[in-house]
Amino acid sequence: MSDTSTVPSPIPLMRICTGLWAARTMAVAHALSVFELARPRSGVSVAELSEKAKVPERPAELLLTACAALGLLRVTDPGRYENTPVAEEYLVEGKPFYFGGVVQLFDRHSAPGWMRLEEALRNNAPTTWDPSTQTSLFDNLNPEFREPFWAGMNSLSIWTARQVAGHVDFVDSHRLLDVGGGGGSFDIMLCRKYPHLRATLFDLPQACAFARAKISEAGLGHRVDVVEGDFFTDELPADHDTILLSMILHDWAEDQCRTILEQCWRALSTGGRIIISELLVDDTKDGPADAALMSIHMLVETFGRNYTAAEYTRWLYDVGFKEIRTIRFEAISANGVVIGTKS
Ligand SMILES: C[S@@+](CC[C@H](N)C(=O)[O-])C[C@H]1O[C@@H](n2cnc3c(N)ncnc32)[C@H](O)[C@@H]1O
Repeated sequence: MSDTSTVPSPIPLMRICTGLWAARTMAVAHALSVFELARPRSGVSVAELSEKAKVPERPAELLLTACAALGLLRVTDPGRYENTPVAEEYLVEGKPFYFGGVVQLFDRHSAPGWMRLEEALRNNAPTTWDPSTQTSLFDNLNPEFREPFWAGMNSLSIWTARQVAGHVDFVDSHRLLDVGGGGGSFDIMLCRKYPHLRATLFDLPQACAFARAKISEAGLGHRVDVVEGDFFTDELPADHDTILLSMILHDWAEDQCRTILEQCWRALSTGGRIIISELLVDDTKDGPADAALMSIHMLVETFGRNYTAAEYTRWLYDVGFKEIRTIRFEAISANGVVIGTKS
């Protein structure tokens, strides 16, 4: 037996192996409304969860204990569990930064594709949809996943949008074009923070239907226009001084990214800025983990990948953009923006 003080501990390997256990525990607790039941000051007991979720007491107890161990619940009075601040803030439906959409999306839509990861690696092709019958993930999205998809995208983006609004100055922006704007999180957040700003969300019809409802719910229908179109085949709306691409380019291969950037160049007003918001892989291609794993996620879901700031910088220069710079921050669906100017 070798001296264990000289060998590294296998504990990090166990943590990686059991990542699936933690993710599924949170997803099933969310699906069984544990975080709706465990609101502060009421909390939930094993017997109450068993009755309300219709599961026997033994698994109800195991679930509550595991959620507490994961930092999602805490024991208040003996036998009663209530949400920790993070669960209360993000896992209760209706909260401004509700994250339950992501939990559902990754668990129901993405996880089966991840279970076929080896196939994705060998075929260099996604596993969550069939490339022989669909042109992309977004083409004819399975109706069963439409609502969770857009709800999940919104949950991912709303916090990121807040970080972008805090790190990038939009004082000199008056007309924003949000290309592939999805559920409109960025338009809502930026218009709220900058009262002088007007925005146009451009996306495929399916997404626009969801976005219209969200924008009207936010009371911003008079400041955010929604335009249906395809950024590969249609001209982008003109007369905008700022273009945003949030989580767009990582869905596509390099030649398609270059086409989208050329489309943006043509549409953008002279003097305007383009902002690429993504989880940027380090130029050294060894991290960070959230960007590198999102890149594998893109293998499972698309023909794209997460790129580096150096790659985006080169493509922007090639298209004609100048004064290219990267601003870093910490968020969920981005860790920075690459910005270029059309002079
Ligand atoms: C990963 S989502 C990002 C949504 C949003 N920008 C965000 O950060 O929340 C990608 C978006 O690109 C849109 N999209 C995909 N293909 C498109 C196309 N050909 N033309 C316009 N939008 C497209 C999708 O409908 C979807 O809303």
